[in-house]
Amino acid sequence: MKLTTNKQSLSGTINIPSDKSISHRSIMFGSIAHGTTTIKNFLRGEDCLSTLAAFRSLGVAIEDDGETITVHGTGFEGLKPAEQPIDVGNSGTTIRLISGILAGQDFSTELYGDDSIAKRPMARVMNPLNQMGADCRGREGSEYPPLTIKGNPQLQPLHYNMPVASAQVKSAILFAALQASGETVVIEKERTRDHTEDMIRQFGGKIEVTGKEIRVQGPQRLTGQEVVVPGDISSAAFFLVAGLILPESKIVLENVGLNPTRTGIIDVIKQMGGRITIEEEGENNKSGKITVETSELKGIEIKGEIIPRLIDELPIIALMATQAEGTTVIRDAEELKVKETNRIDAVANELNRLGAEITPTEDGLIIQGKTALQGGKVTSYGDHRIGMMLQIAALLVREGEVELEKSEAIAVSYPNFFDDLEKLYRAGGN
Ligand code: S3P
Repeated sequence: MKLTTNKQSLSGTINIPSDKSISHRSIMFGSIAHGTTTIKNFLRGEDCLSTLAAFRSLGVAIEDDGETITVHGTGFEGLKPAEQPIDVGNSGTTIRLISGILAGQDFSTELYGDDSIAKRPMARVMNPLNQMGADCRGREGSEYPPLTIKGNPQLQPLHYNMPVASAQVKSAILFAALQASGETVVIEKERTRDHTEDMIRQFGGKIEVTGKEIRVQGPQRLTGQEVVVPGDISSAAFFLVAGLILPESKIVLENVGLNPTRTGIIDVIKQMGGRITIEEEGENNKSGKITVETSELKGIEIKGEIIPRLIDELPIIALMATQAEGTTVIRDAEELKVKETNRIDAVANELNRLGAEITPTEDGLIIQGKTALQGGKVTSYGDHRIGMMLQIAALLVREGEVELEKSEAIAVSYPNFFDDLEKLYRAGGN
């Protein structure tokens, strides 16, 4: 599709779409709990709909009246074998987290997805789950999907030092630990998003977290709850950056989730000199209103423990860095290579096509600022976050057109992205 180019004066207020990570988990926890769970503000993006369909095929009754989702939880023990292989679409979160739930079942399940899923590494979940007694296998002896998960109702607890910083792997182990007999200890490489830990508590379970060490005693029985999903800071990120880098702009984003394990981008914006204010208003200060204004930005170094707190925001942070004075260096982000696409290569290739000066490295990117962007032909590689980042980049292009291939990927996490963007530039009078 032809992207919108040459905009300034973005202004107005956007109610950011719901959090993808929490939406997935709300269906999963609702299903493995006993009793009814209601979910408000569920994200109806393709990824979360894959999770919803997956649990329906495991025999969980899930109703959607267009506003509230109601999950009639069966408990771990009430899940039924799926009649057909389960299609997870493009969703790494679905395939990795559901594996931890299926690991304790007394049946086998086959999981498959799209071309991107067929390349996502799965040994990171299969190894710990197999150590607990499950039998997880990839395609033809490899670690890649389709996966077959043969569950084991007598799962053993695990003491596990995680070799990667991954909330998906951690969550899969925690779901299995809730079904095992005894205490599982997981030690994180770096702290990652803790929505699973939060929701174990919310659904009446017990979990102990001390620094990077997490302890869960199994088996546990969870109880259905009312879940209200906050807005997704990873979706907000595109408009945060747009408001900072486009001239004469001021954007207000409402109801943005502010879980501290997710707010690395706010720290980075402040460090780069961005004008950003946050008013915390939600329960436990976990959501709030963020305002950004056009800013003079400067390049910085981004590395170490902050990386998992902004891992999904790195493509749009890289774009922001092209508009900052000086060099920005991103390190310790080798996980970007195994996301929906290789995001190190995708960001460098596609932004360089538009005139940026970005050097990909083994574990990150080196970005020279400030560069003027120009028209060109680009692709999302089927990756929603690359697609959205390229549309924000196109707004900076003053001459020429930007053509985006595979733009449909954006519906994975933000089906109304283009409508929300249009509101902002129309309100700004252009
Ligand atoms: C997610 C964790 C992250 C993130 C993904 C969602 C989650 O992946 O990139 O978009 O919901 O747990 P990893 O934990 O594999 O880094």
